[in-house]
This record gives sequence, structure tokens and C-alpha cells, in this order.
Amino acid sequence: MTLPEWVPDGVDITTPNAARVYDYTLGGFHNFQVDRQFAEDAQRAWPGIFQLAHANRAYLGRAVQWLVGHGVRQFLDIGSGIPTLGNVHEVAQATAPDARVVYVDIDPVAVAHSRHILAGHPNATAISGDLRRPDEILGHEEVLGLLDFSQPIALLLMAVLHFVPDADEPGQVIRRFDEATVSGSYVALSHGIPAKVPSDAQEEVRSLYRRTPTSVHLRSPDQVSAMLDGFTLVQPGLVPITDWHPDPEDDEAPQPTVLAAVARKGA
Ligand SMILES: C[S@@+](CC[C@H](N)C(=O)[O-])C[C@H]1O[C@@H](n2cnc3c(N)ncnc32)[C@H](O)[C@@H]1O
Repeated sequence: MTLPEWVPDGVDITTPNAARVYDYTLGGFHNFQVDRQFAEDAQRAWPGIFQLAHANRAYLGRAVQWLVGHGVRQFLDIGSGIPTLGNVHEVAQATAPDARVVYVDIDPVAVAHSRHILAGHPNATAISGDLRRPDEILGHEEVLGLLDFSQPIALLLMAVLHFVPDADEPGQVIRRFDEATVSGSYVALSHGIPAKVPSDAQEEVRSLYRRTPTSVHLRSPDQVSAMLDGFTLVQPGLVPITDWHPDPEDDEAPQPTVLAAVARKGA
């Protein structure tokens, strides 16, 4: 089979993958039959999963706009995904053309496509990295080349921490970021939580994700909140993504199973 030219060498197209499944749910084209089938199976198990992806992406955009509005000009977006509508540099630079963005992802398709669309861009780049190894990310030459750690930086962890098991300490990336950055920096995240009523549908989706390289690890609101210890939650706190500074023009269905928070380092 001839693969499209955007497929980096060595990519396994026989196993579904979180980055490409998410790309498909958002209407992107960087996915394979196995990813599309996965997304359709998940949608059958839990109707609404496509809307959930769109709601997460919309929250990402609102969070970036809020951060730019509060003076942030630097973004480290880990688990950034395959570029699609509303990429962080586009949202940030629409208001602040000087905003700088480093995208980081573990997935080779996400990194290759990001680097492709950012080639020659002076204020945005993409690197391969694993949030379980934060020192490699924070010490990466392209991160140090683009981001100034003497100025506030926003760490974005959108819909990614729930792909990392407790044993791999997903919170350590936030602690290392805290140590490396100045007061006035921020962490913005979204994270899946278990449905209030035990849900076969949610369990079916989790079992589907066990077939991918990154299984899903839902956490309670208290566990998510604990990852932000030492930071100050900005209003409205840790809330469903659709309740975080909702766009009054948008009538999204509520999404109680993914929480959002933006938290500031220092007072
Ligand atoms: C659901 S997508 C979210 C994309 C984007 N952050 C958003 O919210 O629109 C999750 C992304 O996290 C990436 N990912 C999963 N585990 C990761 C890890 N340990 N380190 C870095 N990226 C990871 C996946 O490859 C995927 O691109």
C-alpha cells in the first residue's frame, strides 16, 4: 500500500492512535481507516464523543485567548496533537502577533505535520517529546531558543494527562515547569473524569483506548486539582470544559466528563 507523503517513516497504520483519532473527530485528514473505525466505534458506544472533542478544542481556544488577554506571550503546548482548526499560534497571534509557541507531542504524525506547516515560522515550532520526561522538553534546544524563561510562560496540557498512568507521574511535568518558570506563569489543562453514574459507555470507550499505545486514565476532580497544588486557580476554578468562560454565542451541549482549569503561579 502506498502511504500519503505526510506519513513519517515507521508509523504503525494498523493500530489506532489517540492523536489521529482526535484529528478525525475534529474533521481532520491526518488519520487512517483504523483510526476512523475506532472513532466510529467509540461514537456508537458513547454518542457525543465527537462533540466532546469539539468542545475540548473550543475550550483550548478560549483558554489561549484568556491567557493572551492576561499578558501571556509564550506557550508550551504539550500533547498538542495534529494541527487542525484553531491552533494555539493562530489563536494567540491573532491578538498578539509577537506570541511564541512551542508544540510538543509524542506522536510522529503530529510532530511531522506541525513542523511542516510551521516551516520558516519565526515564532512557532514543534518538537517530539514525552511529558513523562519533562526535563528533556524543558532543556530542548528549540524550547530554550524560542521561549524566554525569565518571562511568564503558559504550559498547556489539554486532553493529554489522562493518557498517562499514575505510575508515570503525570503531575511531574507541572512540578518541573513550576521550578523552571517565573511567577505569573500559568498551567492550563483539561482532563477526563469518570462519569458520575457508572457508565458502561465510558468503560467501553476506555476499553477501546486500551487497544491504542496510550490507554485512558480518568481521574477524580480532587486528583486533577492536586496536580495544580502550589498554583492559584483562576475563576471559575476547575469546572466542566463547557463552563470555563463559555462563549455566549455558542450553545454547546454541557460536557461534564472533561474538566478544565487555568492556574497561575504566584498570587
Ligand atoms: C486528544 S489529543 C489533544 C490535542 C490537543 N492538546 C487538544 O486539546 O486539542 C492528545 C494528544 O496527546 C498526545 N500524547 C499522548 N501521550 C503523550 C505523552 N506522554 N507526551 C506527549 N504527548 C502525548 C497524543 O499523541 C495526542 O496528540
